[in-house]
Amino acid sequence: MSAVPPPELETPSISFDQIQELESAYLLQNYARYPLALHRGKGCYVYDLEGNRYLDLISGIGVNSLGYAHPRITKIIRQQAGLLIHSSNLYYHEYQGRLAERLARASGLGRSFFCNSGAEAMEGALKMIRSHGHALSTEKYEIVSLENSFHGRTLGAISITGQPKYRKDFEPLLPGARFVPGNNIAALEAAVNERTGGIVLEFIQGEGGINPISEPFARKARELADKFNALLVFDEIQCGVGRPGAYFAYQLLDPVLLPDIVIAAKPMACGLPLGVVIANEKAAATIKPGMHGTTYGGGPLACRVALEFFDILDELLPSINAVGGYFRMRLTELMRQFSFIKDVRGQGLMIGVELDFPCKQLVLDGMKEGVLFNCTHDTVLRFLPPYILTESDVDRAIDLLKRIFSKPRES
Ligand SMILES: Cc1ncc(COP(=O)(O)O)c(C=O)c1O
Repeated sequence: MSAVPPPELETPSISFDQIQELESAYLLQNYARYPLALHRGKGCYVYDLEGNRYLDLISGIGVNSLGYAHPRITKIIRQQAGLLIHSSNLYYHEYQGRLAERLARASGLGRSFFCNSGAEAMEGALKMIRSHGHALSTEKYEIVSLENSFHGRTLGAISITGQPKYRKDFEPLLPGARFVPGNNIAALEAAVNERTGGIVLEFIQGEGGINPISEPFARKARELADKFNALLVFDEIQCGVGRPGAYFAYQLLDPVLLPDIVIAAKPMACGLPLGVVIANEKAAATIKPGMHGTTYGGGPLACRVALEFFDILDELLPSINAVGGYFRMRLTELMRQFSFIKDVRGQGLMIGVELDFPCKQLVLDGMKEGVLFNCTHDTVLRFLPPYILTESDVDRAIDLLKRIFSKPRES
């Protein structure tokens, strides 16, 4: 940890111990937080209460897409906060339609519904699947998704999340969820039939350990969805909106394979809550006036920030590809030095490093060395850095990781 004297700052008005005491007294005890309280950030770096600086390679689980205190984002937030933060969906404002038009161009799908989080976007897509099936037959309510997937924490989203640990305490859940192993075409063919209302896939599984789906599997999902008149949904909440070096991960295929619905959230409003369901005309037609809605979703502040984000993203895509490729190359080099690294995988700035042992301790070691990342699926180090990461940031990250990997470990 390097202590850098923070410039022009408000000093924190509370100590780390006081924060912990308050949280343990008054919060639901659902999070296992790391022992770190963040105070501010600049670029790819974030600072704790004491002013210690950390290179942030997880960016609030893929949310702080332009890092911290990006001058254009800060300026827009200041301006819009002085004009209009919230309007509700009773009224029009300037930015929702503009953002929807921008997303239509970026995604190839025509109509958006804005909400506030990934799980809420998933819920919107689930309702579209249900409504689509319902219009055809009361039996058409099954949803096929993948083992090991993650789609959020609402009852609907956990119903189709293929990890029993997220579901077991809340059963019975939505009926009709069917799980197939990723990239197993025979299992997919066996699971999809006339009762299938939708197929839901993360194009690159995030929480499940950075696992891309194969092109043949994705194309088979499209073919089966068409054959049985089911909606194909790509959950790109973690793997989309620039992170893979394209607007959406499905655009990496040539020719592009379009889903009926793509859902996105995390990076879009640079830290403000914003989720979206983007649908083609067929899927959009499943939601008629009054069938779905939200009070906060698509407010002027979040939408205006997202428009600014997309302007910046247009120029950043090549660098996301280049720096992501460089990061993976440097991590792959580490495999020669550290035999416990089993695999390096990912796309753009969504990277997983699979180890042959549980990696939680390495995350804590990283914090001591001044670098933040996390561990998912027990043995996979997950890197979701800000899109503004540079090759010299990567060099620094690799030096720090070498130091962390070289520490003696209890076996
Ligand atoms: C693929 C995927 N879907 C859905 C979600 C849920 O998003 P949120 O936490 O914003 O509800 C996440 C969150 O990590 C995710 O990675």
